[in-house]
Amino acid sequence: MWENLEVTVEKTPETARKAKPAQDALGFGKYFTDHMFMMVWNKQQGWHDIKICPYQQFHLDPAAMIFHYGQGIFEGMKAYREEDGQMFLFRPLDNFERMNRSAQRICMPRFPAEKMVQWLKALVYLERDWIPTGPGAALYIRPTMIGVDPALGAHPASDYYFYIIASPVGAYYAEGFNPTKIYVSDEQSRAAKGGVGNVKVAGNYAASFYTQEVAQKAGYTQVLWLDACEHRYCEEVGTSNIFFVIGDELVTPPLDGTILPGITRDSVIKLAESWGVRVAERPIAIDEVFAASKSGKLKEAFASGTAAVISPVGELAFKDEIYPVNNGQVGELAQRLYDELQAIQHGRAADPFKWVVRVG
Ligand code: COI
Repeated sequence: MWENLEVTVEKTPETARKAKPAQDALGFGKYFTDHMFMMVWNKQQGWHDIKICPYQQFHLDPAAMIFHYGQGIFEGMKAYREEDGQMFLFRPLDNFERMNRSAQRICMPRFPAEKMVQWLKALVYLERDWIPTGPGAALYIRPTMIGVDPALGAHPASDYYFYIIASPVGAYYAEGFNPTKIYVSDEQSRAAKGGVGNVKVAGNYAASFYTQEVAQKAGYTQVLWLDACEHRYCEEVGTSNIFFVIGDELVTPPLDGTILPGITRDSVIKLAESWGVRVAERPIAIDEVFAASKSGKLKEAFASGTAAVISPVGELAFKDEIYPVNNGQVGELAQRLYDELQAIQHGRAADPFKWVVRVG
């Protein structure tokens, strides 16, 4: 059905290309490259008008469906570059397959995931000079799909844009690879069973901003969400999955429909298991974590995600209590996972799971 889809390429004239930002001040998601990928869907033509083109603004009708009912999904992935010019993507097909599951969940059209990897490779190759090479830096890639036809009825859109933009980034958190302070919330909820917590829909993030602001005002970096039903079990940290080392076990909440099945989460589990670490995907009551912090059994906590990579947690706060983790230091396993993942992503280490896709 999608065999004949072809992409056209229109390059930005050299004279219109942007100045590249300083590598030591990238931050996260502040700069965008010279090109983007774009395609359009409607019922008559399916996906069409597929192109890599100059980075540009959209002209959308104020009544476009995305603005009322939030029918929007996205992904986050990264391209890495070595000093010698080699470039890599990390598990891009997994991201596009997850995006197709997100599309299906909120009634958007599916797209050809394997072809999309090829088109993405073409975009990344074109933007190769934008891929930063500094430690922890990468070209962050943001595939997005939105409903765009003008209408007010609450129903799925009939026209969609799919686009990919790219941004050279450094660390997601200001702390870099240093322990963050996490605020545990039992007031608001991120996702309930049967909802959309396990797919990457834009509204999940908007729904978390209020609590994130409460946490940030109190001096915390992120929120650890608990389950919506009892506010008892750990779910995920705003932008990433959560792991704890309790005793000699690496534990993380199970994929039971309310948390995002992170690609980095899956990579952490597979790597740790391959090193002989005992890994359990099981419900973790927050009381168990606090008790383990008090008894000294909580050896480490860290978040995992594309943007966050591995982000060690140095402290958890709940109501008026503070629960330190590993004396606020980076844990041994978090450090090893961070180093190994980065080495694999940059093509410097063996890739036993065949995660890395070479560009160019
Ligand atoms: C990612 O890790 O890629 C995400 O999509 C999280 C985002 C909020 C930065």
